[in-house]
Amino acid sequence: MENKIYKDYITNMLRDFKASNPLRFHMPGHKGNFSHPVLNLEYDVTELSKTDDLYLPEGAIEKSESQAAKFYNTKNTIFSPFGATSCIFTMLGIYKAISGKKLLIDRTSHKSVFNALGALNLDFEYIYPDLISDFSIYDTLSINNIKESYTHDIGGILITSPNYYGITCDLKEISDFCKEKDILLMVDNSHGSHFFFNEQKELHPLTFGVDFCVDSLHKTLPVSTGGALLHCNLDIEKSFIKKTMGVFYSSSPSYPIMSSIDSGLCYMFNEGEKLYKNFSKTLLDFKKRIKEKGLRIFEGDNFDNYKILINLSDFGLSGHDFSKIMNENNIFCEMSDEENILLMVSPFNRAEDFDLFIDFLDKNLPENKTFSSHSPTLYEKREKKLSLHDCLFKSFEVIDIKNAEGKICKDMIYNYPPGIPIILPGEIIDKNVIEILTKKGYNEITIIK
Ligand SMILES: Cc1ncc(COP(=O)(O)O)c(C=O)c1O
Repeated sequence: MENKIYKDYITNMLRDFKASNPLRFHMPGHKGNFSHPVLNLEYDVTELSKTDDLYLPEGAIEKSESQAAKFYNTKNTIFSPFGATSCIFTMLGIYKAISGKKLLIDRTSHKSVFNALGALNLDFEYIYPDLISDFSIYDTLSINNIKESYTHDIGGILITSPNYYGITCDLKEISDFCKEKDILLMVDNSHGSHFFFNEQKELHPLTFGVDFCVDSLHKTLPVSTGGALLHCNLDIEKSFIKKTMGVFYSSSPSYPIMSSIDSGLCYMFNEGEKLYKNFSKTLLDFKKRIKEKGLRIFEGDNFDNYKILINLSDFGLSGHDFSKIMNENNIFCEMSDEENILLMVSPFNRAEDFDLFIDFLDKNLPENKTFSSHSPTLYEKREKKLSLHDCLFKSFEVIDIKNAEGKICKDMIYNYPPGIPIILPGEIIDKNVIEILTKKGYNEITIIK
């Protein structure tokens, strides 16, 4: 693909359509003539003979998607303006149709995975990743975790790589294992779309020929919220993927978001390498300056260079408390937990952002170190009484959490971010979960009647 220029067909189609000054007797009601204070609605159109159709693409959308498949070297790459969530539902919907066998999944998967498993009534087993004690965070799955959990009735594995913290799996080993066992490998790469364009390309799952890969483009690339891709390397018809997405998602996909995917990819394929190269010194320098303040940051070969996980326990602070102080100063990180804050940086940060953060540290970090650790939220094994699917259709009641021991939980309860469930629907509410939730300020809980 080197030397090939990537073109933004969808964006050009919208530009041409607007320039043709059409008479708009079609949806949406604003007709492109309502001046919204923050949105430009002139390019917000619907499926017309000149604007193609995401679910039955034949024009600009088809050109853009097949161009993306060529550049990513996949059998099919599908655009979604409905977030990675829609790609996870679609991927698992296809899995159900072509295999339907029991799945192995990471217990620290995002809530969208559990929602899809519940909606599709798929059978699954959890794999529990290990804890990394000096940062009190969960690792990603290792090949040993997977081998220990594998049984002959498994038809596929869904892993999250990288995880929310930016740690990636050894995809080569996992992919070889899946090939040897002849099972499908699906990767939720929501946090790793940028790898494809930067110096860590070998961390992108497509490097290893996985069967499915989900990229939540908007998380790390210059794409508007909602923009995502589903890559599929199976020999299946593209229309099968489209039909499956159409079962779950709106028949009115947003054209501005599709255009944002298109132009974001165009920019990254044409300019991405240069962009990251030019940014590398700033990034290294920023990390060095943070460490000079006496803070520990997470580092490693299999760790995303663009996530900066800063541990605050050496200063006796919790990540949540520090994040509150940041917010009061109009600084926002991606996530905080008991011990850490997580910064997501990209070449699209302004040069002054880095100096401003260092100034903030100078003013707000305590002068002396006083170590105190805070126990992390653990994702424990709990007794399961009902399947996720069965819980969707049961009546429920809200009760005082003090009286909930032994009852069946109705809802998925999680911190957001990272959106990993502490307890899942159908699990028995035990003393441990009551203690965790009470500490987090919950007074009530919803149970199955
Ligand atoms: C690991 C992971 N997968 C999937 C998702 C869902 O992504 P989206 O918000 O694009 O639907 C998220 C969102 O935070 C996530 O962290």
